[in-house]
Amino acid sequence: MADPAALDSFDPANVPNHIAIIMDGNGRWATAQGLPRTEGHKRGEDALFEAVEGCLAAGVSWMTVYAFSTENWRRPKDEVKFLLNYSRGLLRRRRDELNDRGVRIRFVGRRDWRVPNGVLNEMDKAESLTRHNDKMTLVIAFNYGGRAEIVDAVRAMVDEGLKGKQITEKAIARHLYDPEMPDPELMIRTSGESRTSNYLMWQLAYSEMIFADVLWPDFTREHIYGAIAEYQRRERRFGGV
Ligand code: FPP
Repeated sequence: MADPAALDSFDPANVPNHIAIIMDGNGRWATAQGLPRTEGHKRGEDALFEAVEGCLAAGVSWMTVYAFSTENWRRPKDEVKFLLNYSRGLLRRRRDELNDRGVRIRFVGRRDWRVPNGVLNEMDKAESLTRHNDKMTLVIAFNYGGRAEIVDAVRAMVDEGLKGKQITEKAIARHLYDPEMPDPELMIRTSGESRTSNYLMWQLAYSEMIFADVLWPDFTREHIYGAIAEYQRRERRFGGV
């Protein structure tokens, strides 16, 4: 568990290239404050932008967040509707700001299944507006499931007529939703849950995992710095052997 820390608490030369985050605990945060769960998701937006600023300040090149999973469709209808509308609004509200910060936005997940056109349009606009930015890539996992991603990769290879022998780790990696996305060195999940919940199953095979107790709406850029410092302490232990 990483405690929050200052920007100078880690070695800037050994920052993870890619940090993947599971933004968990919005509902519990809201319930604890006597608010509807949807208020937790709203506060989660501020935490997401805190995390973006933290990653930018630390010099992280790729950051991936789990915004909506293939399992999230099982939530009560009203919450699903809220999350879809909220995501559409968030992309519209925030894409210029992310663009100004030099952030390139990408999406991973199933686009051809269930996601309403209104949301897909905002996703396309955000991607195309920011496509030339090179300070950091923010990958938003939306309608994403790790097993679904592997299934979709295998389907694509079969459709291309690949032979059994041609199905290698490299071939699978090339057919994932974003073949350019490097594997994350570090995965952070908030809210004290110690699971990966079908997130980036292929890409997280060798990642360091940090499970932090903080609920996502309370997450700050200092939590990113603390997690990087913890990651470097782990790295140093292995490097010393
Ligand atoms: C998990 O908390 C959080 C989510 C399911 C949604 C997170 C989404 C955002 C912060 C908005 C970001 C959207 C985009 C498009 C970037 P939970 O509801 O599982 O909390 P709980 O475990 O306490 O119930």
